[in-house]
Order: sequence, then structure tokens, then C-alpha cells
Amino acid sequence: MILKRAEYTCRNCLGLSRGRAGSWAFVRIYLLLGILLSGFPAVGQKLSNDASIRYDEKTQVFRIDAADISYVLGINENKQVQTLYWGRRLSASDTFAKPHSDSGPSSFESSVNTTRLEFVAWGGGLYVEPDLKVTFPDGNRDLVLQYVSHKIDANKLNILLKDISRNVFVELHYEMDATTGVLRRSAELRNDTREPLILEQVASGTWTLPRGDDYRLRYLTGRWAGEWQVNEQTIRPGKTVLESRRGSTGAQNNPWFAIDRTGANDQDSGDTWFGALGWSGSWQISIEQDQVRQIRVTGGPNSFDFGYKLAAGAHFETPSFYAGYSHDGIGGASRLLHRFELANIVPHTQTAKLRPVLYNSWEATEFKVDESGQEALAEKAASIGVERFVVDDGWFGQRADDHAGLGDWSVNPAKFPHGLKPLIDKVHSLGMDFGLWVEPEMVNPDSDLYRKHPDWVLNFTGRPRTEGRHQLVLNLARPDVREYVFRFLDKLLNENDIAFLKWDFNRNWSEPGWPAVAPDEQKQVYINYVRNLYAVLEELRVKHSHVEIESCSGGGSRVDLGILQYTDEVWASDNTDAFDRLSIQNGFTYAYAPGVMMSWVTDSPTWVNLRSLSLEYRFLSSMQGGLGIGANLNNWKPEDFTTAKKMVSQYKQIRETVQRGSLYRLISPENGSEYSVTESVSQDQRQAVVFAFLHSSRMNYPYPRLYLRGLKADGKYRIKALDGAVHAGTPEIESGAFWMQHGVDVDLKGDFQATAIALEATEN
Ligand code: DGJ
Repeated sequence: MILKRAEYTCRNCLGLSRGRAGSWAFVRIYLLLGILLSGFPAVGQKLSNDASIRYDEKTQVFRIDAADISYVLGINENKQVQTLYWGRRLSASDTFAKPHSDSGPSSFESSVNTTRLEFVAWGGGLYVEPDLKVTFPDGNRDLVLQYVSHKIDANKLNILLKDISRNVFVELHYEMDATTGVLRRSAELRNDTREPLILEQVASGTWTLPRGDDYRLRYLTGRWAGEWQVNEQTIRPGKTVLESRRGSTGAQNNPWFAIDRTGANDQDSGDTWFGALGWSGSWQISIEQDQVRQIRVTGGPNSFDFGYKLAAGAHFETPSFYAGYSHDGIGGASRLLHRFELANIVPHTQTAKLRPVLYNSWEATEFKVDESGQEALAEKAASIGVERFVVDDGWFGQRADDHAGLGDWSVNPAKFPHGLKPLIDKVHSLGMDFGLWVEPEMVNPDSDLYRKHPDWVLNFTGRPRTEGRHQLVLNLARPDVREYVFRFLDKLLNENDIAFLKWDFNRNWSEPGWPAVAPDEQKQVYINYVRNLYAVLEELRVKHSHVEIESCSGGGSRVDLGILQYTDEVWASDNTDAFDRLSIQNGFTYAYAPGVMMSWVTDSPTWVNLRSLSLEYRFLSSMQGGLGIGANLNNWKPEDFTTAKKMVSQYKQIRETVQRGSLYRLISPENGSEYSVTESVSQDQRQAVVFAFLHSSRMNYPYPRLYLRGLKADGKYRIKALDGAVHAGTPEIESGAFWMQHGVDVDLKGDFQATAIALEATEN
């Protein structure tokens, strides 16, 4: 038995051979496992931090417990994997009966439509959203999956399913994070028939909420310079589909959702289910209320224009779909997700550095970058405490504007006659590290690369190639393009002392053809492109482990839990107006940690909407994430440098709390609110920072009193103003209970005012 379990593990570790022998070995192992694993002990491994996966052999029920969550599923009489419970942690002694399918509302309705299934293929009278739909070469499109076996390995559960007659296997993967209770799910498909099949739709899995008709969905929408808007809607019968058909994540919808009860208006209380898809290509998440008022959330690559040819013996792993539950409202849900992301998703989590204060020249110089101009900016940036100096677009090829040069990644000799080295040396001598902008997946038709390789872009033979920002998308699914992208970046990093890459991706796909492969393989571009993108990023990170990477996409169009596995930070939006930014950042942090969100202080009035804001206001807005400065420092007055130096120094005192702490939205700027207030509490609860903003005073009303959260009730905290003074009469030191229950007043009146206060624990 031990030997067979080792064989099983080996298959997971080493991957499968694609040949016929491999497929038969696979079938044999699973058939054996079906028999052998039935002798599994009733109790699985106990995890650290109070998490466990247990299996009751008699009832065939799996119970996953971690943090404040229980997730329970089981095998019903039809050998289907059925969801039994997902929510607040149950008592250890609670038990579940043998699962039974739910009969439909009529004798002619198949029970697959009303049974809460974890992963269901299209077949056998299914009308709700399927997780899988295939077409076989003989025309059969019916697939009915049944339980074969399972394996529990510490915090992982794998359940193997097989079609009732054909050798198509699906292994469901579950992995529980013990600290947050966030569950990672994916599905691995294997075609062990003798012929290829076409995957027409494939999801990572379905999450099913308890029956109810009072659910509210929150989701994020946007567009260029207007990303991260929070939307709410009551879930009604039918389906809402969040998606991108753009080839990449997109700003129009972000692959994140949260569902709570319609009546719950408090940020920090109430049942909330949430999830995010780890995929940076076209994606979809459907939220469906079925005919018996169950909510099914199914997510994976977008099924639009999808058709992945899976060869005989080949396998396909879906992206990861992460989800969790919080009893502490939407605020608690974000905090769990932030914690999960920082500990499990963002690379180098064990050694991850805090985000350095950076300077970026884009808004100051746009494409007009050159050695002396950048050096002058670098000197000024260093004088206010900047730690990283980043040269943006314009340093390469014939890049005078956005019409030419993308693809020709050699330093422009007119702008940098001695290469980048003199500038990099200068930046280092000023005590900063050096970063560079690249847009590796794109090419301008006016470039040497395109003249040499016109076939390297996404295109349909003989059809127009639609340009966006005068550029085309390289087909990174092609092995030669992947090789080229890796090689030029590797060379750039080998030849220059670069600590940071800003990796841009400005336009979405069009004409997603891949003429170099057979017609029935062309649609694999949707998957292979993203896999190659991840592979290039991974390879670069391994080879240049000190280099940090930012995901930027014409603003914030490629932010998801897939890209975040390979990038240290993201650019949330090109909209750097500090007031607009409050709602942009508010929406962003519903799904993603402030510790990965870069935010720049730029010039006033801003190009976005010609609004003028004080430098202090602009700093306080940006200090709620990773602080950057993108203003034209050549235009600053001496007093601006004094203010900036003070604010940067203050930011360094609180950045760990902002970037790694727990975020509370004390007042959210949604729905035209006059106020916006966030509070970040350090992980050890010894520091809290509050940022408060006022849009416009009305009728001489005072600013609302702020009731802090997340402090130790019996701890003592000293309050101090980070900028300005605290409200007259505010005591200096009081208990956490005082600041949370009595609250604190801030003095904000007028238009576009801002202030920040910090609370520090006074006792050990
Ligand atoms: C879009 C990015 O979002 C900007 O910050 C800047 O890098 C430009 N691209 C450069 O072309």
C-alpha cells in the first residue's frame, strides 16, 4: 500500500508522459487506487494553526476546517462530489449524513441542476453553468463524472473523477491555507482516450452558497483611468457573468467577487463569501442563482472563442480559483484576502521587502528621457528621501513617441550616448536603486523587430491587424517569441545593474489568430500565451532573484492573483489625481493588499481633470499604499522639497503598518460620500495610522467622529498628528477601548482637506 501511494505522489511530482504507455499506467494506478484508498483512515492529518482535513469513510464526507471556516463536501449516491457546507467554523463534534442528491422540482428535471455539485461536466441533462464541456472526435459531447478515489496530504485534498464510460479523468485539487481559511481550488483534466478531444469550456470549480434569496454581489468594474469601481447588486434568479474577452485580465471587470446578505451594511460584521481567480488571460466568473435559489459561482478561462485541443495522453491544469469566508463583513473578507496574498501569493514572501519609495519620470518627461535630464531628476529625488529611481518609456529604439520603437530593446544612443551605465552609477551614488520600464509583449509596426518578424504578432492570415496605441501584440504563445522575450530581458538585466522592472502591457488583443499552428490548435493561444508569460517571469525571477517587477497595464488592467505570483507590486491606475485616487484605491483594496498597490504623488493641477490639490493632500492620498513620486521635480519650489522630505520621512515610519497591516475602511468614499477614512493597524497592533479626507464641507457640520478598529482594547496608545495637529482637547494617551468606543475627532473643514494621525502603543 505504501508503495502504491508513493507511485501516486510521483505522478503528481513528475508529470505524466504523453505516450500510450503513460496513459495506461495512469489508468492502472487509478484503478488500483480506487481499491487501495478505500482503506484510508477515517481521520486525515492535523495541520498546524488548527486546520485539518478529515474523511469519514462511512458517510463519504470530507470536512476541511481552518481558521474560522469549515468547508464540507461528500460523495452522494450518484458518485457525484456534492457541497455540503461552506461558512463559519462548525463544532468539531458536528457530523454530516451520507450526502444525497436533491431531486429537481419536477420528474423531468435532472437532479444535476439542483444538487450542489463541486464540479460538473455538461451531460446528462445539465442546464446550469458547467465546469467542463468537451467534444470528442466521434461527435459525442456528453460527459458524466463520477468519484473514483481521493488522497489527503496534509492541507491538500485531491479527488479523482472519471467519466462513466470514457477514459477522461478530472482530479479536483483543494488546498487550505491554515491561517486565513482561504481555499485554493483547481482541476486537472487528463485525456486517456486514444484520440484528442476539444475542451470547449473548463472551469477551476464551482463554489455554492447556502440556499437564500437575500444575497448581494459586490464586484469591480472600470476602464482606463477609471479602474476599481465597486458595484453592488442583489442577486436575482439568472446569471451575472463577470469576464474579460481581451486576452488579459482587463479593467472592465476584475476577477474578484464578494457576496454577503443584502441587509448587511456594516463593513465589519456579517457573513461574507469572497473569491478571486488566479488567471491573467481571458477569464469568466459566473454568479448564478438557480431555480431553487442556490448561488453557484463558477470560474475559469473564458469559454468565449475557447477550444483547447487536448491530445491523447495529455493533461490540462486549470488556473487556481481562491475563495474564503469571513464572519466579519466585507472588511474582514478583504483583510483575510490581503493576508493570504502577502503570505502566499506575492513572490519571495518570506523575504519580501517593504515597497521602497520610488520616483518615476513618466508624468514629468513622458518620452523625452535622456541622460542629463534623468540625472537632474535623480538628484532632486534623492534629496527628499526617494529609494528607487525608475526611467519610464522612451529609453530604447527609435522611441520619440508611441508610434515607433517597441520591440527594439537596445538603448537609444542619442538619448543615452554611453548606454545606461552612467545614469545607473549616478543613481547608485545618490543612494537609490535603479528601475526601468519595459513592454515586452508588444511591438510597433514601425520597428526593426516587426520588419524582421511580421509573423510574430497575433493575426489572422490576410486580415487587417488592428492597432491600439500604434502597437500590435506579440504572440507569446509561440516558442520563438517566448525565447526572444526572455533573451532580451535576460541580456538587459545581465548588462545593467537593474533592481526593478516596470512591466507594461498597454493594449488588449485583437485578431487572436496563430497561423503557424494547425487550425484546430490555434485557440490554444488563450492558454499558452499566459502560461508562457508566467514562465518568462518565473525564469527571470530565478535567474535574477534580486530584481523586483511591477505589473502595469495601461494603468491597472492586469491585476489578479495569477500575475501577482510573479510580481512584487502593481500599478493601480494611470489616474494619479489624488482625489479620484481615493475611490480607485478603495475599490482596489477590496480585492488586493495595499502593500502591492503603488501610488504616485504627481503635479497639480493634474492632467486628468485639472484639479488642484495641496502637496500634503496628494502625499496623504498616496501614502495609503506603496508611495511613489511622479511629479516634475524641476518645477518644484524649495518649500515643496521641504514638505516632500517631511512626508517621505513620515511615510517611512508608518509604511510597514500601511503595507502589511490590517486595513479598516472607517468611511468609504463610495456613493459620492464627502468623506474617506482608512485605518491601518500593524500586525502586532502596536501602531495604527488613520488617513482622513474631506471633499467639501456642508452647512458647517463637523467632520464625523472616527471610531477606530482593530486596537487592543486594554492597551494604551498615544495619539499624534502625522500632518497638522490633533483636535484640541483630545487626550494624549488612552486605551484602545477609548479610541475605538469614544472615538476621535479630526479638524477638517473646507474643500479637499486631508489629515493623518498615528497611534502608538505606549506599553510593551
Ligand atoms: C502606461 C503606464 O500605465 C504609464 O504609467 C506609462 O508607463 C506609460 N504606459 C508609458 O508608455
